[in-house]
Amino acid sequence: QELQMNLEQIEKGGYDHFMLKEIYEQPSVIKDTYRGRLHANEGLIQMAGVEDNLEKFLNAERIIIVACGTSWHAGLVAEYIFEEFARIPVEVEYASEFRYRNPIINSKDIVIAISQSGETADTMAAIKLAKESGAFVFGVCNVVGSSISRETHAGAYTHAGPEIGVASTKAFTTQITVLTMIALRLAKAKGTLSNSLFHTYLQELVIIPEKVKEALETNDRAKEIAAVFKDAPNCLYLGRGYNFPVALEGALKLKEISYIHAEGYPAAEMKHGPIALIDEHMPVVVIAPKQGHYDKIVSNIQEIKSRSGKIIAVVTKGDTQVRELADYVIEIPETSDALSPLITTIPLQLLSYHIAVMRGCNVDQPRNLAKSVTVE
Ligand code: AGP
Repeated sequence: QELQMNLEQIEKGGYDHFMLKEIYEQPSVIKDTYRGRLHANEGLIQMAGVEDNLEKFLNAERIIIVACGTSWHAGLVAEYIFEEFARIPVEVEYASEFRYRNPIINSKDIVIAISQSGETADTMAAIKLAKESGAFVFGVCNVVGSSISRETHAGAYTHAGPEIGVASTKAFTTQITVLTMIALRLAKAKGTLSNSLFHTYLQELVIIPEKVKEALETNDRAKEIAAVFKDAPNCLYLGRGYNFPVALEGALKLKEISYIHAEGYPAAEMKHGPIALIDEHMPVVVIAPKQGHYDKIVSNIQEIKSRSGKIIAVVTKGDTQVRELADYVIEIPETSDALSPLITTIPLQLLSYHIAVMRGCNVDQPRNLAKSVTVE
């Protein structure tokens, strides 16, 4: 028993939980994921699975992304990035819905299947359906040799290393890293991104690990805020644009490890009904970085405040305007809008982790959940 305990302690690298270890591994595993692929000084992105199929990607009429859970959220971020950078239409589908709704798929479609475990039954079924319809299927997996990585025509691995915590963290950020590199590579080939912007994004991607490290310094702040909200029965997460999927992901993290009901929403959508939920008992996490519809999100925060909602805002370092309105502020380093999800998600991972620990939940193996859903 003692030996078992020590072995596990060693495996956790001194962290209390695998999830916390994996949150802190993100700077290094993002670097591992772009190493050998991102050559910022030469202005190159090289990924064999993409290079070997570049024509297919360039001639694609649309990209259909199929995934589940957190991987589906990474797919939503990719939709914004692919459409803005490479101007290719993207649809993001829950694999479990896609496989049963007799979808329209043709041979000019590219399907990107995102799966950390590479064993998710619904995603595997969606891949088989796409292949039967003649589509080219590209996989983004974290487990080498997994079923999905073998089933797809080509792919690119995330190099996050084994993700033990059931709640996905480093898989999410490394999935976004891979998808961003693919979008940039296609944008360069199609000329849909200016050379200077292309180089700017490459340079920024190289230093993302440093910014993630800086974002991890919000840990103590997240812990303080967790203590205030650990008994909240509900929580809302709001974001716009690139950070709308991050709001969904932040809510999923809180749900699955602390069992608090949480919902992610596009910030502007609140006035179409959900704002009726707001009162002094409703904590609202708002993702409000400087580089993303800032003025609009400030007015959304004002709408929440005027209904006495308790506001926890993730803001860019040095922010003054939101600070005046929010009850609690978490400051992160500035990034471009398109790369901000890699940073804004960090404090949300930490916040949900600390709330779950304070509630005495089993953070690494939450009730009712499995790491890989290999059943339908
Ligand atoms: C995320 O924290 C969950 N563990 C779950 O939603 C997960 O993302 C989903 O089951 C998909 O798993 P996959 O990436 O291994 O396919």
